[in-house]
Amino acid sequence: MLDLPIERLRPIVTSFNEIADSSNWNRFSSIPSEEVLPDLLSEGQKEAIAFCTVVEDHTPRYIEDYRRRFPIDAAQDIARSLSNRELFHFLVRWGAEEDRHAQALAYYQVQSGIVENQEALEEELIRENIKDFDLGFTQPVQVFTYTFLQEKATQIYYQSLSRAVKEPILKRLLLHLSRDESRHFSFFVDMLDAFVECHNTRVLPLIVEVASHYRMPLFNTMPDYARKAVRMAREAPGYSRKKPLEILADWVLGWAEKLPENAREFREASREIRERNHLSPSVAGV
Ligand SMILES: [Fe+2]
Ligand SMILES: [Fe+2]
Repeated sequence: MLDLPIERLRPIVTSFNEIADSSNWNRFSSIPSEEVLPDLLSEGQKEAIAFCTVVEDHTPRYIEDYRRRFPIDAAQDIARSLSNRELFHFLVRWGAEEDRHAQALAYYQVQSGIVENQEALEEELIRENIKDFDLGFTQPVQVFTYTFLQEKATQIYYQSLSRAVKEPILKRLLLHLSRDESRHFSFFVDMLDAFVECHNTRVLPLIVEVASHYRMPLFNTMPDYARKAVRMAREAPGYSRKKPLEILADWVLGWAEKLPENAREFREASREIRERNHLSPSVAGV
Protein backbone atom coordinates (compact mmCIF):
# COMPACT_ATOMS: atom_id res chain seq x y z
CA MET A 1 0.00 0.00 0.00
CA LEU A 2 1.44 3.39 -0.97
CA ASP A 3 1.02 5.99 1.75
CA LEU A 4 2.00 9.56 2.46
CA PRO A 5 4.14 10.27 5.51
CA ILE A 6 2.36 12.56 7.92
CA GLU A 7 5.03 15.27 7.46
CA ARG A 8 4.01 15.43 3.81
CA LEU A 9 0.26 15.19 4.47
CA ARG A 10 0.08 17.81 7.23
CA PRO A 11 1.02 20.93 5.20
CA ILE A 12 -1.47 19.97 2.48
CA VAL A 13 -4.33 19.58 4.94
CA THR A 14 -3.30 22.75 6.79
CA SER A 15 -3.16 24.89 3.70
CA PHE A 16 -6.58 23.58 2.62
CA ASN A 17 -8.13 24.49 5.96
CA GLU A 18 -6.37 27.86 6.16
CA ILE A 19 -8.29 28.90 3.06
CA ALA A 20 -11.43 26.89 3.82
CA ASP A 21 -11.91 28.50 7.23
CA SER A 22 -12.21 31.89 5.53
CA SER A 23 -14.43 30.69 2.70
CA ASN A 24 -17.95 30.70 4.00
CA TRP A 25 -21.33 31.44 2.54
CA ASN A 26 -24.77 30.88 3.94
CA ARG A 27 -26.78 28.08 2.36
CA PHE A 28 -30.07 29.64 3.46
CA SER A 29 -29.69 33.41 3.37
CA SER A 30 -27.99 33.29 -0.03
CA ILE A 31 -31.24 31.90 -1.46
CA PRO A 32 -33.97 34.41 -0.51
CA SER A 33 -37.27 33.12 -1.93
CA GLU A 34 -38.55 36.65 -2.68
CA GLU A 35 -35.63 37.27 -5.03
CA VAL A 36 -35.82 34.00 -6.98
CA LEU A 37 -37.30 34.49 -10.44
CA PRO A 38 -38.51 30.97 -11.34
CA ASP A 39 -39.85 32.05 -14.73
CA LEU A 40 -36.27 32.48 -15.88
CA LEU A 41 -35.53 28.77 -15.36
CA SER A 42 -35.80 26.43 -18.31
CA GLU A 43 -37.12 22.89 -17.90
CA GLY A 44 -33.66 21.56 -18.72
CA GLN A 45 -32.08 23.72 -16.02
CA LYS A 46 -34.60 22.48 -13.46
CA GLU A 47 -33.72 18.90 -14.37
CA ALA A 48 -30.02 19.67 -14.16
CA ILE A 49 -30.41 21.08 -10.65
CA ALA A 50 -32.41 18.03 -9.59
CA PHE A 51 -29.65 15.77 -10.94
CA CYS A 52 -26.86 17.71 -9.17
CA THR A 53 -28.83 17.59 -5.93
CA VAL A 54 -28.88 13.79 -6.03
CA VAL A 55 -25.14 13.64 -6.74
CA GLU A 56 -24.22 16.10 -3.95
CA ASP A 57 -26.63 14.43 -1.59
CA HIS A 58 -24.46 11.33 -1.62
CA THR A 59 -22.03 13.09 0.71
CA PRO A 60 -22.82 10.92 3.77
CA ARG A 61 -21.99 7.76 1.85
CA TYR A 62 -18.90 9.26 0.26
CA ILE A 63 -17.53 10.39 3.61
CA GLU A 64 -18.42 7.04 5.15
CA ASP A 65 -16.42 5.32 2.42
CA TYR A 66 -13.42 7.54 3.16
CA ARG A 67 -13.75 6.92 6.91
CA ARG A 68 -13.71 3.18 6.28
CA ARG A 69 -10.52 3.49 4.23
CA PHE A 70 -8.76 5.79 6.67
CA PRO A 71 -9.75 4.46 10.10
CA ILE A 72 -8.69 5.75 13.48
CA ASP A 73 -8.75 2.78 15.83
CA ALA A 74 -6.71 0.23 17.77
CA ALA A 75 -6.50 -2.10 14.78
CA GLN A 76 -4.06 0.35 13.14
CA ASP A 77 -0.61 1.14 14.33
CA ILE A 78 -0.29 4.54 15.96
CA ALA A 79 1.45 6.09 12.96
CA ARG A 80 -1.43 5.21 10.66
CA SER A 81 -4.08 6.44 13.07
CA LEU A 82 -2.12 9.68 13.46
CA SER A 83 -2.00 10.12 9.74
CA ASN A 84 -5.69 9.30 9.36
CA ARG A 85 -6.48 11.75 12.16
CA GLU A 86 -4.65 14.42 10.15
CA LEU A 87 -6.63 13.54 7.03
CA PHE A 88 -9.81 13.79 9.10
CA HIS A 89 -9.17 17.53 9.52
CA PHE A 90 -9.66 17.74 5.77
CA LEU A 91 -12.40 15.16 5.55
CA VAL A 92 -14.77 16.73 8.02
CA ARG A 93 -14.42 20.20 6.51
CA TRP A 94 -14.74 18.90 2.97
CA GLY A 95 -17.77 16.83 4.01
CA ALA A 96 -19.39 19.88 5.59
CA GLU A 97 -18.91 21.82 2.35
CA GLU A 98 -20.30 19.02 0.16
CA ASP A 99 -23.21 18.64 2.53
CA ARG A 100 -23.87 22.36 2.22
CA HIS A 101 -23.93 21.95 -1.57
CA ALA A 102 -26.51 19.20 -1.25
CA GLN A 103 -28.70 21.14 1.12
CA ALA A 104 -28.40 24.45 -0.74
CA LEU A 105 -29.43 22.79 -4.00
CA ALA A 106 -32.37 21.05 -2.32
CA TYR A 107 -33.35 24.32 -0.62
CA TYR A 108 -33.14 26.11 -3.96
CA GLN A 109 -35.48 23.52 -5.47
CA VAL A 110 -38.03 24.29 -2.77
CA GLN A 111 -37.59 28.09 -2.82
CA SER A 112 -37.89 28.27 -6.61
CA GLY A 113 -40.81 25.87 -6.80
CA ILE A 114 -38.94 23.23 -8.82
CA VAL A 115 -40.41 20.90 -6.22
CA GLU A 116 -43.52 21.65 -4.24
CA ASN A 117 -42.91 19.47 -1.28
CA GLN A 118 -39.69 19.35 0.71
CA GLU A 119 -40.59 16.06 2.42
CA ALA A 120 -41.21 14.35 -0.92
CA LEU A 121 -37.84 15.59 -2.20
CA GLU A 122 -36.07 14.38 0.93
CA GLU A 123 -37.64 10.97 0.59
CA GLU A 124 -36.61 10.73 -3.04
CA LEU A 125 -33.05 11.65 -2.07
CA ILE A 126 -32.85 9.19 0.77
CA ARG A 127 -34.02 6.38 -1.49
CA GLU A 128 -30.93 7.03 -3.65
CA ASN A 129 -28.73 7.44 -0.59
CA ILE A 130 -29.49 4.04 0.92
CA LYS A 131 -28.41 2.09 -2.16
CA ASP A 132 -25.07 0.28 -2.01
CA PHE A 133 -22.19 2.67 -2.47
CA ASP A 134 -18.51 1.96 -2.88
CA LEU A 135 -15.92 4.16 -4.55
CA GLY A 136 -14.02 1.03 -5.59
CA PHE A 137 -10.23 0.81 -5.91
CA THR A 138 -7.97 -0.28 -3.10
CA GLN A 139 -5.02 2.11 -3.00
CA PRO A 140 -5.35 5.56 -1.39
CA VAL A 141 -3.74 7.21 -4.42
CA GLN A 142 -6.51 5.73 -6.56
CA VAL A 143 -9.25 7.10 -4.36
CA PHE A 144 -7.58 10.51 -4.49
CA THR A 145 -7.24 10.28 -8.26
CA TYR A 146 -10.90 9.42 -8.60
CA THR A 147 -11.89 12.35 -6.39
CA PHE A 148 -9.51 14.64 -8.34
CA LEU A 149 -11.51 13.80 -11.47
CA GLN A 150 -14.83 14.25 -9.76
CA GLU A 151 -14.01 17.58 -8.17
CA LYS A 152 -12.84 18.88 -11.53
CA ALA A 153 -15.99 17.60 -13.23
CA THR A 154 -18.27 19.33 -10.73
CA GLN A 155 -16.26 22.55 -10.87
CA ILE A 156 -16.44 22.75 -14.65
CA TYR A 157 -20.09 21.76 -14.64
CA TYR A 158 -21.23 24.43 -12.17
CA GLN A 159 -19.14 27.06 -13.90
CA SER A 160 -20.51 26.20 -17.34
CA LEU A 161 -24.08 25.93 -16.09
CA SER A 162 -23.84 29.28 -14.29
CA ARG A 163 -22.93 30.97 -17.58
CA ALA A 164 -26.10 29.65 -19.22
CA VAL A 165 -28.44 30.33 -16.29
CA LYS A 166 -30.38 33.62 -16.26
CA GLU A 167 -32.06 33.23 -12.89
CA PRO A 168 -29.88 35.46 -10.67
CA ILE A 169 -30.05 33.53 -7.39
CA LEU A 170 -29.21 30.22 -9.03
CA LYS A 171 -26.39 31.87 -10.93
CA ARG A 172 -24.92 33.11 -7.66
CA LEU A 173 -25.39 29.75 -5.97
CA LEU A 174 -23.61 27.97 -8.82
CA LEU A 175 -20.68 30.33 -8.46
CA HIS A 176 -20.40 29.53 -4.75
CA LEU A 177 -20.45 25.84 -5.61
CA SER A 178 -17.90 26.13 -8.36
CA ARG A 179 -15.51 28.11 -6.14
CA ASP A 180 -15.74 25.44 -3.45
CA GLU A 181 -15.16 22.67 -5.98
CA SER A 182 -12.14 24.51 -7.28
CA ARG A 183 -10.61 24.56 -3.76
CA HIS A 184 -11.39 20.86 -3.35
CA PHE A 185 -9.74 20.12 -6.66
CA SER A 186 -6.57 21.97 -5.59
CA PHE A 187 -6.37 19.80 -2.49
CA PHE A 188 -6.41 16.63 -4.58
CA VAL A 189 -3.81 18.02 -6.99
CA ASP A 190 -1.55 18.65 -3.97
CA MET A 191 -2.19 15.12 -2.75
CA LEU A 192 -1.32 13.54 -6.09
CA ASP A 193 1.81 15.72 -6.36
CA ALA A 194 2.88 14.48 -2.93
CA PHE A 195 2.33 10.87 -3.97
CA VAL A 196 4.59 11.35 -6.98
CA GLU A 197 7.23 13.05 -4.83
CA CYS A 198 7.17 10.11 -2.40
CA HIS A 199 6.64 7.17 -4.74
CA ASN A 200 7.72 8.36 -8.15
CA THR A 201 6.63 6.18 -11.11
CA ARG A 202 5.10 3.53 -8.83
CA VAL A 203 1.89 5.57 -8.74
CA LEU A 204 1.53 5.59 -12.51
CA PRO A 205 -0.16 2.22 -13.16
CA LEU A 206 -2.55 2.94 -10.28
CA ILE A 207 -3.51 6.34 -11.67
CA VAL A 208 -3.85 5.01 -15.22
CA GLU A 209 -6.17 2.28 -13.94
CA VAL A 210 -8.51 4.86 -12.37
CA ALA A 211 -8.47 6.99 -15.49
CA SER A 212 -9.31 3.96 -17.61
CA HIS A 213 -12.50 3.20 -15.68
CA TYR A 214 -13.69 6.67 -14.85
CA ARG A 215 -17.43 7.04 -14.37
CA MET A 216 -19.32 9.52 -12.24
CA PRO A 217 -20.70 7.95 -9.07
CA LEU A 218 -24.32 6.79 -9.26
CA PHE A 219 -24.07 5.88 -12.95
CA ASN A 220 -25.04 2.34 -12.00
CA THR A 221 -27.66 3.10 -9.35
CA MET A 222 -29.58 6.19 -10.46
CA PRO A 223 -32.59 5.29 -12.59
CA ASP A 224 -32.25 6.45 -16.19
CA TYR A 225 -28.73 7.75 -15.52
CA ALA A 226 -27.46 7.80 -19.11
CA ARG A 227 -30.33 9.85 -20.47
CA LYS A 228 -30.18 12.28 -17.55
CA ALA A 229 -26.42 12.70 -17.92
CA VAL A 230 -26.74 13.60 -21.59
CA ARG A 231 -29.50 16.08 -20.85
CA MET A 232 -27.62 17.72 -18.01
CA ALA A 233 -24.51 18.13 -20.16
CA ARG A 234 -26.62 19.88 -22.79
CA GLU A 235 -27.60 22.55 -20.25
CA ALA A 236 -23.99 23.52 -19.59
CA PRO A 237 -22.26 24.55 -22.83
CA GLY A 238 -18.51 24.15 -22.42
CA TYR A 239 -18.82 21.19 -20.07
CA SER A 240 -17.41 17.90 -21.22
CA ARG A 241 -17.18 14.63 -19.34
CA LYS A 242 -13.73 14.16 -20.81
CA LYS A 243 -12.23 17.46 -19.68
CA PRO A 244 -11.18 16.20 -16.20
CA LEU A 245 -9.37 13.27 -17.87
CA GLU A 246 -7.52 15.68 -20.14
CA ILE A 247 -6.48 17.68 -17.11
CA LEU A 248 -5.25 14.52 -15.41
CA ALA A 249 -3.30 13.50 -18.53
CA ASP A 250 -1.71 16.97 -18.64
CA TRP A 251 -0.89 16.81 -14.93
CA VAL A 252 0.93 13.49 -15.49
CA LEU A 253 2.75 15.00 -18.45
CA GLY A 254 3.81 17.95 -16.29
CA TRP A 255 5.79 15.52 -14.14
CA ALA A 256 7.81 14.41 -17.18
CA GLU A 257 9.44 17.83 -17.07
CA LYS A 258 9.90 17.91 -13.31
CA LEU A 259 11.53 14.46 -13.24
CA PRO A 260 13.62 14.26 -16.42
CA GLU A 261 15.15 10.91 -15.42
CA ASN A 262 11.65 9.35 -15.51
CA ALA A 263 10.25 11.50 -18.30
CA ARG A 264 9.65 8.51 -20.55
CA GLU A 265 7.39 6.72 -18.00
CA PHE A 266 5.35 9.85 -17.27
CA ARG A 267 4.91 10.60 -20.98
CA GLU A 268 3.86 7.04 -21.60
CA ALA A 269 1.28 7.11 -18.77
CA SER A 270 -0.13 10.41 -20.00
CA ARG A 271 -0.43 9.00 -23.51
CA GLU A 272 -2.16 5.91 -22.17
CA ILE A 273 -4.76 7.97 -20.29
CA ARG A 274 -5.51 9.87 -23.49
CA GLU A 275 -5.65 6.77 -25.62
CA ARG A 276 -7.92 4.79 -23.31
CA ASN A 277 -10.37 7.65 -23.17
CA HIS A 278 -10.18 8.48 -26.87
CA LEU A 279 -8.78 11.93 -26.21
CA SER A 280 -6.82 13.73 -28.88
CA PRO A 281 -3.03 13.75 -28.38
CA SER A 282 -1.77 16.62 -26.24
CA VAL A 283 -0.47 19.78 -27.86
CA ALA A 284 3.03 18.64 -26.94
CA GLY A 285 2.46 15.77 -29.39
CA VAL A 286 2.60 13.01 -26.77
FE1 LIG B 1 -19.97 19.58 -4.28
FE1 LIG C 1 -16.26 19.08 -4.06
